[in-house]
Amino acid sequence: MQRITIKSILEKKGKEPITCLTAYSKPIAEIVDKYCDIILIGDSVGMVLYGMKTTREVKIETMILHGRAVKNTAKRSLVVFDMPYKTYSNKFIAYKNVKKIMKLTKCDAVKLEGGKKIVSIIKYLIKKGIPVMGHVGLLPQSSKVFKLKGKNLIQKKQILQDAVALSNSGAFAIVVECVVESLAKKITSCVAVPTIGIGASKYCDGQVLVTDDMIGLSNFHPKFVKKYSNVKKIIEKSVKNYCSDVKRRRFPYPQNVYKL
Ligand code: KIV
Repeated sequence: MQRITIKSILEKKGKEPITCLTAYSKPIAEIVDKYCDIILIGDSVGMVLYGMKTTREVKIETMILHGRAVKNTAKRSLVVFDMPYKTYSNKFIAYKNVKKIMKLTKCDAVKLEGGKKIVSIIKYLIKKGIPVMGHVGLLPQSSKVFKLKGKNLIQKKQILQDAVALSNSGAFAIVVECVVESLAKKITSCVAVPTIGIGASKYCDGQVLVTDDMIGLSNFHPKFVKKYSNVKKIIEKSVKNYCSDVKRRRFPYPQNVYKL
């Protein structure tokens, strides 16, 4: 099976919406890989799977384990590895960590949070042959509070400049997180590469969500997430029925028993 390339992602800008979801494990990657252009191994894994308070607690070793599980499974989607907090403090630290990540996970690209301030790091990684995805707007690794960005002119200007700087530095796509619609529209029209929105309106070249939020497995229900199913309820019903069966000595059923 042919893997979706960076070139084909770039070619979709303004033509065909790009689909992206997170995956941290083999079973989810198996499903997401069938439909999405991009799979993101997000550092949201820390909050979603490990109950951490922020993504700042996520360690590179944890991400590498999830990265390997996802990349070994996904055969079709482009797989992007989210660089955890403090793993790209300067270009040399960033490259050292990216080399390790690429060697151990074989992911196709990395994602870094930030704008103008990290342009030299992004350029260095690209020079070394590493495809980079940017991330502007709400930046979970550096934001103390999760709130909408781009509500005033100063913030709008700064986020737009960040996005343009990322595009000019060679990033192949930019995640735009939690910004007002008018800013998302402006960024998408001003940058040469695809914008992938999360809480950033339909005026982006693609959309990304955290899969666990979208399927109703997490407890995170912000306005920008549409809950496509309620997997938590389905799991709860199964657990409840199993426990009830065991307590009443109904399970194992005859078909679940080995007999000679
Ligand atoms: O960590 C993550 O899942 C992300 C997405 C929210 C874009 O960065």
